[in-house]
Amino acid sequence: MPPRKIIIDTDPGQDDAVAILLALASPQEIEVLGITAVAGNVPLDLTSKNARIVCELAGHTEVPVYAGCDCPLKRALVTAEHVHGKTGLDGPDLPDPQMQLTDGHAVDFIIDTLRAHEPGTVTLCPLGPLTNIATAFTKAPDIVDRVQEIVLMGGAYFEVGNITPTAEFNIHVDPEAADIVFKSGRPIVVMPLDVTHKALVTKPRNDAFRALGTKVGIAVAEMTDFFERFDKEKYGSQGAPLHDPCVTAYLIKPELFSGRFVNVEIETQSELTMGMTVADWWHVTDRKPNATFIGDVDADGFFTLLTERLARL
Ligand code: BDR
Ligand code: CA
Repeated sequence: MPPRKIIIDTDPGQDDAVAILLALASPQEIEVLGITAVAGNVPLDLTSKNARIVCELAGHTEVPVYAGCDCPLKRALVTAEHVHGKTGLDGPDLPDPQMQLTDGHAVDFIIDTLRAHEPGTVTLCPLGPLTNIATAFTKAPDIVDRVQEIVLMGGAYFEVGNITPTAEFNIHVDPEAADIVFKSGRPIVVMPLDVTHKALVTKPRNDAFRALGTKVGIAVAEMTDFFERFDKEKYGSQGAPLHDPCVTAYLIKPELFSGRFVNVEIETQSELTMGMTVADWWHVTDRKPNATFIGDVDADGFFTLLTERLARL
């Protein structure tokens, strides 16, 4: 099978960085057509810089990186420096990128790429707020049906929320954009907190990254060292949850994951529950299923895959 063509839409973020590294380390399964940066964990100038730092760390400076939307569709940007640090990539000491951003807007890249490829051959992989994707769908509705699949990190059902009591960060930052994407009618696979909180970098898993002894292995260990303090304190968990790498791992080994095809609606009205992903996990409504909502992962299999692939960079 030829590798699956993807666009990674991202707001790096340490876990975004690991997701990108996993994709770039897996050319047999994944062809990264481009990386589109969006404002999220930190403002756009930093996410678009961090995406290039990660490409350089991976030795893949040929991948085009585009800057996209600098704020959500209808709201002020909420960022997460309290989790990811001031730069968004705190932890390792990585050099400023030499690579330039590619000219043009991320949204136009998404539109042009979908139009240039056969329908059903490009998968979108959003790892941050859905602003770029929703803007592309609204600006060029003809591209929606050309999307093969959307595999995204966002939302929660059993774990409810991390940025508010009822909402996960990526969806909460731009609920109107998420609503557009979830109503798009394209096949969607969702990696909510319910599964990502099971992909924890425990001490032995962190040691395995460091033991690779490579620039990439050590940087990933230092990123997860930094990123873990927040979740350890908040949830008493054993280490950093690797949210976004669940997306790229799913593209390589979907059999590691399991979930249910259910209806998922986004709350856009209530200030109390803004950005909640209302997933009909128990099929208690007649609402039409629109997304495969993942609930479980073979965590040991996931970390074996990740460590083995990072060793290739
Ligand atoms: C999501 O929010 C960000 O902080 C992470 O990068 C991830 O995409 C988890 O809620
Ligand atoms: Ca992210």
